[in-house]
Amino acid sequence: MEKLVVHGGSPLEGPLTVSGSKNTALPLMAATLLAEGPSTITNVPDLRDVRTFSKVIEVSGPSVDFDSAANTLSVDATTLETPVAPYELVKKMRASFYMLGALLGRCGEAKVSLPGGCAWGPRPVDLHIEGMKAFGADIELDEGYVYASTPPGGLDGGTFRLDPVSVGATINLLLAAVTARGGSKIENAATEPDVVAFGRALQEMGAQIDGLGTRTLEIQGVDQLNTGTFRNTPDRIELGTFILMAATAADPGTPVDIHEGTHEHLGPVFKERLAETGVDVSYDQHTVTVTRPGTLRPVSIETAPFPGFATDLQAQWTVLLGTTDGTATVTDTIYDDRFKHVPELQRLGMEIEVDGNTATVHGGAPLKGAKVMSTDLRAGVSLVMAGMIAEGPTDVLRVYHLDRGYENLEGKLRDAGISIHREEYDEFAEPDLETAS
Ligand code: EPZ
Repeated sequence: MEKLVVHGGSPLEGPLTVSGSKNTALPLMAATLLAEGPSTITNVPDLRDVRTFSKVIEVSGPSVDFDSAANTLSVDATTLETPVAPYELVKKMRASFYMLGALLGRCGEAKVSLPGGCAWGPRPVDLHIEGMKAFGADIELDEGYVYASTPPGGLDGGTFRLDPVSVGATINLLLAAVTARGGSKIENAATEPDVVAFGRALQEMGAQIDGLGTRTLEIQGVDQLNTGTFRNTPDRIELGTFILMAATAADPGTPVDIHEGTHEHLGPVFKERLAETGVDVSYDQHTVTVTRPGTLRPVSIETAPFPGFATDLQAQWTVLLGTTDGTATVTDTIYDDRFKHVPELQRLGMEIEVDGNTATVHGGAPLKGAKVMSTDLRAGVSLVMAGMIAEGPTDVLRVYHLDRGYENLEGKLRDAGISIHREEYDEFAEPDLETAS
């Protein structure tokens, strides 16, 4: 098992560079299965989730070649003879469930494991399943698997309203609908930049989709899709994470540059809330420059589907609030209990109370390093962030969570002035009670 050891006290100086998006790369990989032949995706980050999904795809037949040094991933989907996504892989990464739409869209049948829960709750897939039924699929659930098939000739198409808005269900339903025999409509669809970029790639492959970026998507099925080369978008959550790290751990008055992000993908609400704290941010085409003021104002946030404040940035915002001179709240309206990072932040000295889906943060408490546990990738990165401003060393355990979604995080932060390194540790070693007492 590996951990990251962060020594607080050295300011984040930058510059930092944003890698390709995890949450756009994964649906783009699924989209390549819809065309019979080789497709290529560039700007793909070297992440555990990309490697896991590559294995899922290869189980079904296509070959995947990932040149991680060049961040280029190729999928040859000429043949796809095993429309199956097994539990052993799907349980490792929920987005493997995109195989349901890809396999139905490509070969009219699918056996896909249900994803199971995650660190912060059940995370159901009922919208994915009900939507596929509305489009004409025959769905059976048996022994933890979804068995799906289309009528001969493919899905008829249909209309389905998502409630609540769902990124994954929007993506899965698009994967199935683009090669349906008829037309389909997705109401209350997700408008995240990940979804829009994925939809545009499908259009480049020949799909007929209207309304990308709006809540209503209208799809006219086509007989076949063409292979292609697609450029993945920059990771908007990594960009937001780096901005909040600079706002939290940079020297006041010293600008920090963050390159290669697409700032429009942060959404207007994130930018508004950040400006309200008093952090000075300039947004250029290729660089976001962040300058932390002497003191930050406490600003409450509430997550919402894009263009609202991203739930994937609420843990990082919580750490920022710890450095302000007052009290503010973080409410997650998308997930009920995505606060597993709070007890770990409390171990570092943060003063936070959680009541339902709201965390109340009292800023100004000094932080002292400690051993803390990652529970998911965004919780894990919030612990690294807190460690950057804590006195002494912070050991962030179970760093495999961060490796799912942050490419070379410790290398990027070390080059930007942070004292951080990776170490092996034995999670099951007998505790050394001498030093512990
Ligand atoms: C995507 O997950 C992201 N993952 C998540 O990022 C992100 O937190 C989430 O969208 C919300 O923005 C990827 O893109 C790979 P949803 P997804 O379906 O698609 C409920 C990260 O850190 N729901 O938009 O699984 C669900 O419980 C990850 O990179 C149903 O009720 O999220 C939630 O409350 C973590 N039934 C809400 O919808 C369903 O069938 C939004 O979930 C599906 C979802």
